[in-house]
Amino acid sequence: MSRENTLVGLDLGTTTIRVVVAQPTEGQPQQLQILGVGEHSADGISKGTITSIEDAISSISSALEQAERMTGIPVTHAFVGINGTHISSQEVHGVVAVAKADGEIKEDDVERVIEAAQTTVSPSNVEVLHVIPRVFTVDNQKGVKDPIGMSGIRLEVDAQIIQGLQAQVKNLTKCIYRTGVEIDDLVLGVLAASESVLTKRQKEIGVGLVNIGASTTSLIVFEEGDVLHTAILPVGAGHITNDIAIGLRTSIDVAERVKLEYGTALPNEVGKRDEIDLAEIDPKETGVVSRRHVAEIIEARVSEIFSMLDKELQKVDRSGLLPAGIFMIGGGSKLPGIIDVAKREFRLPAAVGTPLNIITAVDKVHEPEYATAVGLAFWGLALQSAGTGHGSKFSTVNTVLGKIRGWMKNLAS
Ligand SMILES: Nc1ncnc2c1ncn2[C@@H]1O[C@H](COP(=O)(O)OP(=O)(O)OP(=O)(O)O)[C@@H](O)[C@H]1O
Ligand SMILES: [Mg+2]
Repeated sequence: MSRENTLVGLDLGTTTIRVVVAQPTEGQPQQLQILGVGEHSADGISKGTITSIEDAISSISSALEQAERMTGIPVTHAFVGINGTHISSQEVHGVVAVAKADGEIKEDDVERVIEAAQTTVSPSNVEVLHVIPRVFTVDNQKGVKDPIGMSGIRLEVDAQIIQGLQAQVKNLTKCIYRTGVEIDDLVLGVLAASESVLTKRQKEIGVGLVNIGASTTSLIVFEEGDVLHTAILPVGAGHITNDIAIGLRTSIDVAERVKLEYGTALPNEVGKRDEIDLAEIDPKETGVVSRRHVAEIIEARVSEIFSMLDKELQKVDRSGLLPAGIFMIGGGSKLPGIIDVAKREFRLPAAVGTPLNIITAVDKVHEPEYATAVGLAFWGLALQSAGTGHGSKFSTVNTVLGKIRGWMKNLAS
């Protein structure tokens, strides 16, 4: 098997590290063949932040080794997902004079205006992860999507900057480098996931993608093909487990198993006398609990998470207004009944998202918790095709390229 062209996605979660090794297929539209995966429980990582460098390195190495054993391909490079509540986004504006005397706007001008927008923020303790141009203005003509080749004297851009705390970003990159893997690119997890789960058409008409992880829930909203909003909340499916542990006065491990084996977000669909015998889960536990009570605990937390997400939609005036609806990924999206609660809370169509356009013999890649790792490989594919001129010039992926390369080297040292 050829080792060139291999794209590796590395998703560092609070509970699980996931690696996906992929290769592009021939022909159009391009798909990804997933050759193998690696998965290891995550130590030393919480809420997207490294809490112990040594533990994180050892977990990442184990996941990488597993993928290498499965594919027979050594992992030397990876597209790495970044997540965490230290990540924030900000709207910025940049202005430059067009360089050429004849006033024709070149790629160079676009790069400069994006650079100018970026320098309007950036305190010294943050790293810019992505600069996503939303719209350009050429002289007084507003609403320009692609200004290259147009004539003008003054070029402006409205862009969104996604940034993370430098210390956290540095710890993350340090861990990856110490496993002997080079970082191809560092990508906001939910942004990468959108590359594998959402279609172009959905991003055009308006859609939200929600990643319900163990300790974080992240959201990205698209409209007219652009990123409209991103948010990372410090709550996830692990909080449901904690609520069950408190409600039932059991250990976290027992609560997790109650959730996975008997959990649902729809208490009304559980019979009043439906009971869970805790001794069946753990012989050390005694007593029976009402399954409906457990469902009520779950529903309360899920509704709370969704109402926090809806507040984020309100910030961009899209509450109840995304025609393509909400797609959910991450382990938390597998909770029975969650789709109904999402439809109710968001007043929108809702579904669980799974990676699209993949060919694979590895079944679990189709699960929603693999969407981020697969999306990272798709991010790599989009970068490749942008490099060869196949990609759209102003795809989210392409415009973000280049910014990252420069600073990543600095961080490695
Ligand atoms: N079938 C299921 N039903 C309900 N919950 C589930 C199911 N499978 C996994 N989960 C929950 O999903 C969570 C793990 O999801 P995931 O693997 O996406 O998180 P992570 O990437 O490790 O965390 P994060 O993204 O927050 O750093 C856990 O809380 C787990 O209990
Ligand atoms: Mg995750």
